[in-house]
Amino acid sequence: MNELNHWHPVLKSAALRQKPIGIELCGQEIVLFRTQSGKVGALKDRCPHRRMRLSLGWVEAEQLVCPFHGWRYGCDGQGHSPSTPRLKPCAEQFETAERYGWIWLKAAKSETSLPDLDFPDYHLACSLEHRIQAPLELVIDIFAEMEHAPTSHTFFGYGRSQVADVEPRFDFSDPTTIKLLSIVPQRSLPWIFEKMFGIRGGDRFFNHLTMHFSPMYHTYEIYWEQQKTGQLRQERLLSVFFFNPINSDETQCMSLHYLSKPQWGMPVFHLLQKHVLKYVLDHEVKRDKWVLENIADKQVDLQQLCLGRFDRILIEYRKRLQRIYRGQGAVSSATQSEPSKITQALYQLASSSNFPKDRSI
Ligand code: FES
Ligand SMILES: [Fe+2]
Repeated sequence: MNELNHWHPVLKSAALRQKPIGIELCGQEIVLFRTQSGKVGALKDRCPHRRMRLSLGWVEAEQLVCPFHGWRYGCDGQGHSPSTPRLKPCAEQFETAERYGWIWLKAAKSETSLPDLDFPDYHLACSLEHRIQAPLELVIDIFAEMEHAPTSHTFFGYGRSQVADVEPRFDFSDPTTIKLLSIVPQRSLPWIFEKMFGIRGGDRFFNHLTMHFSPMYHTYEIYWEQQKTGQLRQERLLSVFFFNPINSDETQCMSLHYLSKPQWGMPVFHLLQKHVLKYVLDHEVKRDKWVLENIADKQVDLQQLCLGRFDRILIEYRKRLQRIYRGQGAVSSATQSEPSKITQALYQLASSSNFPKDRSI
């Protein structure tokens, strides 16, 4: 399965202690375990002997012990049968890494590097994890388009009355990423939030989204500009969202959120700021989750949909998702067989002069 060739952050490091943990990723059940020396192992959650779940076993020294007949496996998948020592059982093994407070996982033989998430101008404020009962494509749809912001979200971005004036600026020039810049008036915010982050309703809200496909993640760089003076507000926010397909019906979102480097002093204020930010972001992602889980028909293809001008990014990102993340040269029939009349019309709209031009961001 090509998806597993890419790195996925699957679990907080602190969550894996002596007890093995079973997870699901891309429809595969995998056991994560930590050996006595602290190394993290990941094996297919099936004992090669008689298919017992290894995640119900335990760790002894550097090996994971199967709870059925006591066969044991190292992080490299090489096993040992106490009853038949000449047998050389071998469990399917995955490569792991521990970085940025997460355990990362990918197929053993793929050659890709971990993303660089060290941002020198920022400090980490919080990390979040959400599980959404919706397929990967639908989750990425909502994280890619901005039309839903005024109706589905509470804090960030513009109000409902401004949706007709908003022009998303797409950049599809790089075949490996997609960029989207939104500049919108910031809606009014609760007083405490304005005070804490030094922004005001009516400021110009800038959101630079970059979509990556190996691994599958988005970065959002957010800042505000004072409307009258054009001066940038001091506080900046950087959010990174990773999307892991658990199976075809469920997606895991792992996210890290950074704030611009704090001024010296005021540690209590900065701690409070982190807590408020965590609450706000968790609330906003839960709003997306609520929408996604209430979509009446969770088919992922775009046919028969009446797509609008904000939805162009959906068509473009799916091409990259198929080609880079899924490793399929052409877009699969599920997402793009014979385009329906509506989809064809959208393609025409997308290439017509009425559609906002791609431009450098
Ligand atoms: S099934 Fe695992 S040791 Fe027999
Ligand atoms: Fe959203």
